[in-house]
Amino acid sequence: MAEREERTFIMVKPDGVQRSLVGEIMERFEQRGYKLVGLKMMTAPKELLEMHYHELRERPFFPKLMAYMGSGPVVAMGMDIVAQGRAMLGATDPLKSAPGTIRGDYCQATGRNVCHGSDSKASAAREISLWFKDSELSHYTNEQHTKWVYE
Ligand code: RTP
Ligand code: MG
Repeated sequence: MAEREERTFIMVKPDGVQRSLVGEIMERFEQRGYKLVGLKMMTAPKELLEMHYHELRERPFFPKLMAYMGSGPVVAMGMDIVAQGRAMLGATDPLKSAPGTIRGDYCQATGRNVCHGSDSKASAAREISLWFKDSELSHYTNEQHTKWVYE
């Protein structure tokens, strides 16, 4: 089959990096058969974080969210497919996340929920272009996809 067009933006948050969960989180997405198209580690500047969480700027927890997300390096990933990516993350509040999801398995507090995932195709496109330059995204065929993951 043709390459999937859908993309999502996944990010291991600073607590995920501090808790050495980068490999574990990446592994879950890789094992599901997702295709990695971009990867970088960085401490995000305030302006980038403000643009990334623009929709939440009026919320009371916004300053706390900015402090959390800017508190250390994050690992940003571009991946194919949107919908199941969110399902794999679990609910925003980890105490409401099902066991088996990333948040349901690794965290307990909303303000320390280890991983971000785009919530729609439109936000995925916006977030990927915010965090990656075109030249930082890889275009390739994952042979496993064409033969063994998709019919
Ligand atoms: P994310 O964007 O990081 O994947 O999280 P999400 O969609 O599950 O939740 P969203 O509503 O977009 O919130 C973004 C992040 O803000 C923090 N948050 N704190 N009441 C609170 O203190 C509160 N609510 C949200 C969480 O870290 C959440 O993931
Ligand atoms: Mg969100």
